[in-house]
Amino acid sequence: MKKLITLLCTALIALSGPAFAKDIKVGMVIDDLRLERWQKDRDIFVDKAESLGAKVYVQSANGNEQTQISQIENMISRGVDVLVIIPTNGEVLSNVIKEAKRDGINVLAYDRLISNADIDFYLSFDNEKVGEMQAQSLVDAKPSGKYFLMGGAPTDNNAKLFRQGQMNILQPKIDSGAVEVVGDQWVDSWLAENALKIMENALTANHNDIDVVVASNDATAGGAIQALDAQGLAGKVLISGQDADLAAVRRIVDGTQTMTVYKPITALATRAAEIAVELGQQKTPASNASLNNGVKDVPSWLLEPVAVTRTNLKTTVIADKFHSEQEVYR
Ligand code: GAL
Repeated sequence: MKKLITLLCTALIALSGPAFAKDIKVGMVIDDLRLERWQKDRDIFVDKAESLGAKVYVQSANGNEQTQISQIENMISRGVDVLVIIPTNGEVLSNVIKEAKRDGINVLAYDRLISNADIDFYLSFDNEKVGEMQAQSLVDAKPSGKYFLMGGAPTDNNAKLFRQGQMNILQPKIDSGAVEVVGDQWVDSWLAENALKIMENALTANHNDIDVVVASNDATAGGAIQALDAQGLAGKVLISGQDADLAAVRRIVDGTQTMTVYKPITALATRAAEIAVELGQQKTPASNASLNNGVKDVPSWLLEPVAVTRTNLKTTVIADKFHSEQEVYR
C-alpha cells in the first residue's frame, strides 16, 4: 500500500509539470546591473523566487538594447517558462516577445513598461507620482528661480513618466513666471558620468546661475552634484533624486542633495517573484491597475513611492532597513 501511494505521488508530480514551483524556470533579463538599484532588485527577486522553488537565470545587458535582445533569445532557447524583463528600451522588444509567446513563455515587464508587445503583466511603482514628488519637494524649498531639467534615459518609458509628473507640478509655476527653465537634457543610460558632463555644460552655458536641478534619479544626481561641487555649488543648488541609493541618502544627510524618492524594492521584487511563479503556473496574478501598452490593457500592480528628505529618513529608509542607521550616519 505504502509503495502504491509513493508511486502515485511520483506520477502526480511528473504529470503536473510546472504546476509545482520547483519546476519553473525563470529568465530575468536586467537593463543594467552597473547601477546599485538593480543589484538590490536582483538579489531580492532571486532569493524569493528560489524560496518558492523556481530556478532563476539572470543576465544584464549593461545598457545595450541589442545585447538585451540576444539575451532574451538565449533565455528562449534555454526553455524558460517565464521571462522577467527590465527593458533597456521598451520600444524594441515586440519581435522577440512574439518569439517567446510562440514558445508559450509568459512575460512580466518589471519596473518599466514594454510597448507594443503581448506581455502578460506589468509591475512597477506609480512613476508619474515619483516625478510629482521630485518637483514638489523642490518647489516647496524654492518656489521661484532658475530650474535645470535633467531627464533620465530617453529610451526608458519611466523617464518619460517621471518628466510628466514633474511637469504636472512645474507647468503652473512656469506659466506664472515663478519658475524659469534654463535648460533641458536627458541622460543616456542613466549614467552618472553622462550627467556630470551635462551639468558641467549647463553651468558654463548659464554662468553658474542655476538654482535648482530636477534630476530624475540618484545616479544622475550624483554626477550632477560632482559638477556642482567643482564650482563650489554643492548644497547651494537644490537637486532631486530617486532610489534611495546609499550614496544619495548620505548626500541628503550632508546637505548636498535635497531629496530622493524611496521605492520599497523589497516589496516590488518579492511581489515580482510571486507573480513570476504564478505566471509559470498559468495562474492569473492579482492586479490593482491596468495600463495600455499600445496593443493591450496590461494587467498591472503599482506600488506607492515615498518622498524622502532629511526629516523623514529615519522613519522611512532606515525604519524599513533599506539601509542601516550606521551606514547612513557613518
Ligand atoms: C528607472 C527606474 C529608476 C532608476 C532608473 C535607472 O526605470 O524606475 O528607479 O533606477 O531606471 O536605472
